[in-house]
Amino acid sequence: MCGIVGYVGFRSVSELLLEGLHRLEYRGYDSAGIAVMADDGIVLRKRAGRVGELAALLDEQPVRGSIGIGHTRWATHGETTDENSHPHIGGNGEVAIVHNGVIENYISLRNQLQEMGYVFQSQTDTEVVAHLIAHHLSEQQKLNCDEPCMRTCLRAINLSLDQLKGTFGLCVLFRDCPETVIAARAGSPLVIGIGKDEYFLASDASPLIGYTKEVVYLADNEVVVLQPSGIQITHRTSGSVRPSIQTLDQVSSDIDLGDYPHYMLKEIFEQPQTVENALRGRLNEEEGTAVIGGLNLTPQQLRKVDRIVLTACGTSWHAALVGEYLLEEFARIPTEVEYASELRYRNPPMTEGTLVFSITQSGETADTLAAMRECKRKGHPTLSICNVVGSTIARESDGGIFLHAGPEIGVASTKAFTSQVTVLTLLALYLGRMRHLSYPAGKRIISQLRDMPAKIEEALQCHDRVKEVANKYADFDNFLYLGRLCNFPVALEGALKLKEISYIHAEGYPAAEMKHGPIALVDEQTPSVFVVPRSGIQPKVMSNMEEVKARKGPVIAIACQGDNAVAEIADDVIYVPDIEEYLQPLVCAIPLQLLSYHIALLRGCNVDRPRNLAKSVTVE
Ligand code: F6R
Repeated sequence: MCGIVGYVGFRSVSELLLEGLHRLEYRGYDSAGIAVMADDGIVLRKRAGRVGELAALLDEQPVRGSIGIGHTRWATHGETTDENSHPHIGGNGEVAIVHNGVIENYISLRNQLQEMGYVFQSQTDTEVVAHLIAHHLSEQQKLNCDEPCMRTCLRAINLSLDQLKGTFGLCVLFRDCPETVIAARAGSPLVIGIGKDEYFLASDASPLIGYTKEVVYLADNEVVVLQPSGIQITHRTSGSVRPSIQTLDQVSSDIDLGDYPHYMLKEIFEQPQTVENALRGRLNEEEGTAVIGGLNLTPQQLRKVDRIVLTACGTSWHAALVGEYLLEEFARIPTEVEYASELRYRNPPMTEGTLVFSITQSGETADTLAAMRECKRKGHPTLSICNVVGSTIARESDGGIFLHAGPEIGVASTKAFTSQVTVLTLLALYLGRMRHLSYPAGKRIISQLRDMPAKIEEALQCHDRVKEVANKYADFDNFLYLGRLCNFPVALEGALKLKEISYIHAEGYPAAEMKHGPIALVDEQTPSVFVVPRSGIQPKVMSNMEEVKARKGPVIAIACQGDNAVAEIADDVIYVPDIEEYLQPLVCAIPLQLLSYHIALLRGCNVDRPRNLAKSVTVE
């Protein structure tokens, strides 16, 4: 949510920042802007709209320099106007600032600054920080006129940070200290890229790919001074910090579109590979169990786990619901799925043996992070199932399992969902084999998991059929998605995908619940998408399909290859491979992802940049 990029070095900074903003655009695309240290002070270029608008502005009005900061915005305070775009200027052009996060006490600070004579150009909370830093800078310059400018700037930043309440990742440029960028973090991620005589800064690693492989993740309450000659990190209470340099293993092709028109489609088609990555090295054929190395708990400790809480948001929450089903089925451990945004403020009773898993693609979701910290504070082991190595949740959890799905750039999550479900299946197998699950049952699950990449490949062959179905239904404005047991979360996920990228109203329900209210919505204009693969519960779901048909509701069914009985009831069927019940979410999710993609395209929506959304929700 909001992307930040910064650079000090020798390259032409406008182009570099612009490229970085293009790569970060998935974090927010309401407006974009840069501030460059030019010969005659700080020069701003910013514009409401996509990064492309900023690129056009820079073509008309280029700006030269080799030090600068940039921002792509997901609006929180103030509409999407040029004035509210970042960077914001403080004082009379002494500082420029970009910010990710929310300053909760901005109104009282703004009143104080206005009384001091500062004039505001925008409605943002960020401009308050800009003027606050300018204010402290001018005070410090009067008091310490002989010290190096960098020291004065750093003191001004720290004094300002002391006054802020809320979350932020911010990055500041100083007119009077032209070789310097200072950045600080409290709750919103920042990563530093280390080059030779040059340093990069960004809210995630994507802008650094291709420029450097050496990175340092800034921790909360750390402040970094970047100059072409070096970086200096200090913790706001404990002083100087030795940077811990890590290696970035992403390559440019991970973030290239290749021949695909959209990231979403690319990521849907990557799923055979990403599921394979999630399984790699984690299947222990001989012992009929999974290999899960990163939990940092002994088998004895894991044996004592008597309850599991899975906490997450959005699509990750849907994956957690599948996980609940699997953990209870295989390991017989009572499992609860909690919205992280609720858990962080609730006080549910938790036994001593409760294990908490945060499930998150980005590892930066503010609510998930807060829920995890709350559980940690209470003394529970907090583990994560996360995609982004180096993310805050991955670093702060006591252990966990990485998805290894590669960067997910499409705003609508697709491959992360199937990777999360795969990892949760492995976890359920692992914990199950410590308890009631027999060796032959474990062996069977392993051989079925081994086949999953091929099964997903097979499921993707429904693509042309999905296009036909999308053509038929793209003009409908309301959809129901229905499924049962482990396919109920798949129905929820299908409805979420359709809502977020095509702006069509869609509701997901357990199929049998339909009779208790949603059936009132059924008419000729409301298609119901039934997830109805072969299973013990299938006959019941087929009865629900009949109930919809009896009320003239169009029925689209996701069913197993060759299931003629479903075809007799449904208006349209999309087939997936016939596999074990507990693995069906992995194949049934595929046609639903494709269906939402094609309906959104037919309705002229921007599938990779849906309105009002951003990829990682780093504000509350
Ligand atoms: C939906 C989507 C969101 C995320 C949610 C959690 O397509 O992308 O619902 O799943 O914001 O994000 P992570 O998994 O990064 O914590």
